Amino acid sequence: MKEENKGKTVLITGASNGFGMEFAKLFARDGYNLILVARSTERLKNLGYQLQDEHELEHVCIITADLTRPEAAREVYDEVRKSGIRVDVLVNNAGAGVHGLFYETDLEREKAIMQLNNFTPVELTKLFLQDMMLRDSGKILNVASVVSFMPSPLMAIYGATKAFMMSFSEALSDELKDTNITVTVLCPGASNTMFFRRAGAAHTRAANGKLSEPEEVARDGYEALMKGETRIVSGLINKAQTVVSAIVPDSAMASTMRHMMEEEPDEPAESKL
Ligand SMILES: NC(=O)c1ccc[n+]([C@@H]2O[C@H](COP(=O)([O-])OP(=O)(O)OC[C@H]3O[C@@H](n4cnc5c(N)ncnc54)[C@H](OP(=O)(O)O)[C@@H]3O)[C@@H](O)[C@H]2O)c1
Repeated sequence: MKEENKGKTVLITGASNGFGMEFAKLFARDGYNLILVARSTERLKNLGYQLQDEHELEHVCIITADLTRPEAAREVYDEVRKSGIRVDVLVNNAGAGVHGLFYETDLEREKAIMQLNNFTPVELTKLFLQDMMLRDSGKILNVASVVSFMPSPLMAIYGATKAFMMSFSEALSDELKDTNITVTVLCPGASNTMFFRRAGAAHTRAANGKLSEPEEVARDGYEALMKGETRIVSGLINKAQTVVSAIVPDSAMASTMRHMMEEEPDEPAESKL
């Protein structure tokens, strides 16, 4: 436990799984009290109370919320305010995607994803940032993706929501440069979490290729957040991919991404001999 973090609190959305769960472990290790938000109450409770015991945290607060609901951000904020807890760090991590051709995918599902990936984190940021401004202190971490840098065929809405998060975060980071508040955007590549399965993309090349481990991704994001860096791309291959995307035309990046989001066809029988 780091003494300087005693009494500080982090709010993490999507803490029941994947990166969010790993963020919770890192913050708890360093002495932060936790507010964990997601839909899976039992998973949040198991994680939160275990971390509280392990690290002797003063308080752990579990908030069950479906962040695809337009009212959710305000309800989460009001619940935190009512409990009298000050949020020192906000981690907008919860997110989801949907795989498929845009003309075939379900619009209602996509509207929910835009709410979850963009409108809810924007509103949470607005509400908690205004409190941080009064204290001139705070940190915000937004989880975007390497697909923030390039078009994302077969996950067009998801890619667009992540491009939004990167642009939004970097603009805020600049607006806040004369304050003691920092905004960091984390851009992971394909990773070993529930994400692809939930997006209906478990069969794609991306999901079956080299995946980053959530522990490493969360550690990269956590370290960049603590240093107050604006953007962190997690992993060497992903870093290289974003550099290439700045040079190669978007149409070529789109073709590559489409290939990755397609299913690997079975090898022809004769080639298996
Ligand atoms: N894995 C990757 O390859 C990858 C790559 C780049 C970026 N990302 C981004 O990383 C973030 C975390 O994803 P992950 O990979 O850790 O995926 P994950 O294992 O599927 O975890 C997603 C988390 O978000 C929460 N969540 C999903 N829908 C929610 C809803 N409607 N309301 C509240 N919480 C919700 C889930 O909790 P409940 O189900 O309990 O609600 C879960 O805790 C996302 O923003 C994702 O877009 C992932």
